[in-house]
Amino acid sequence: DWTMANFVEQEVAKLQEKVGDRKVLCALSGGVDSSVVAALIHKAIGDQLTCIFVDHGLLRKHEGDMVMETFRDGFNMNIIRIDAKERFMNKLRGVSDPEQKRKIIGNEFIYVFDDEAARLKDMDFLAQGTLYTDIVESGTETAQTIKSHHNVGGLPEDMQFELLEPLNTLFKDEVRALGIELGVPEAVVWRQPFPGPGLGIRVLGEVTDEKVEIVRESDAILREEIKLAGLEREIWQYFTVLPDIRSVGVMGDARTYDHTIGIRAVTSIDGMTSDWARIPWDVLEKISTRIVNEVDHVNRVVYDVTSKPPATIEWE
Ligand code: XMP
Repeated sequence: DWTMANFVEQEVAKLQEKVGDRKVLCALSGGVDSSVVAALIHKAIGDQLTCIFVDHGLLRKHEGDMVMETFRDGFNMNIIRIDAKERFMNKLRGVSDPEQKRKIIGNEFIYVFDDEAARLKDMDFLAQGTLYTDIVESGTETAQTIKSHHNVGGLPEDMQFELLEPLNTLFKDEVRALGIELGVPEAVVWRQPFPGPGLGIRVLGEVTDEKVEIVRESDAILREEIKLAGLEREIWQYFTVLPDIRSVGVMGDARTYDHTIGIRAVTSIDGMTSDWARIPWDVLEKISTRIVNEVDHVNRVVYDVTSKPPATIEWE
């Protein structure tokens, strides 16, 4: 009968047979799907797997280091981290339209990956963490038209890889169970969804280093306090956004004219609809106080109390 342990055994055997003594490349993002696919393939073929981790400079605080600790140190995987922040920031300069930002970040991601893959030369397979639902949903109208998600397709046209998609019969909860079975840390397996364009779509309007830093630091405080309050698993997704506005504040005797941070926290089953999370007021108060005290150039914090629909979860 079907158990996760049997599934692993079967998939490992299949992968070993298919790959033989050839080599597999995997784009590791630190998200649940790519982490689990990397762990599964690593179990099957060990050093024949090489992962490329493109750090676009739009990740959350400590996220890049955590990916390296988990997979390079924890799993002993071949993993190449590419610090491509400058490339992304250069392309994003002067761009404020959300869909254009998404397109630029998505394309640049592929160019960076492509450059590194070309340098590695002798790779035969490309592993992707495509889930059953990715295949089904990419055909739906919502996924196509509301926002351009780019997990399926989007491969460089001239790449001569054979695709490996060992998760493509699984649903998300099964991928999580598989991850646990393979020893992927809980923090990764239960990580909240994080969009590919990262903090690039949480800085509203033009993306600058200073603004990314504000959103990253405020987000880190929010996450710390949500964890302390024991709300991590109850809230589906929680993050801060930096709207493109300034407002007046007062600090001591001085008038300030500075940024506002928006807190978005939602409960949801699948991200298609959501409700705003009823975070206790004292928790919100602590988060707000810490953000204005600890993050430079923020003098106001607001809480988003809109459901989806009509609002989306992200602000861009
Ligand atoms: P929205 O904002 O459309 O978000 O209500 C629904 C879910 O999708 C995530 N999201 C993205 N994920 N690339 C991604 O990989 C994107 O461009 C993108 N936009 C939104 C969002 O974080 C939420 O979980």
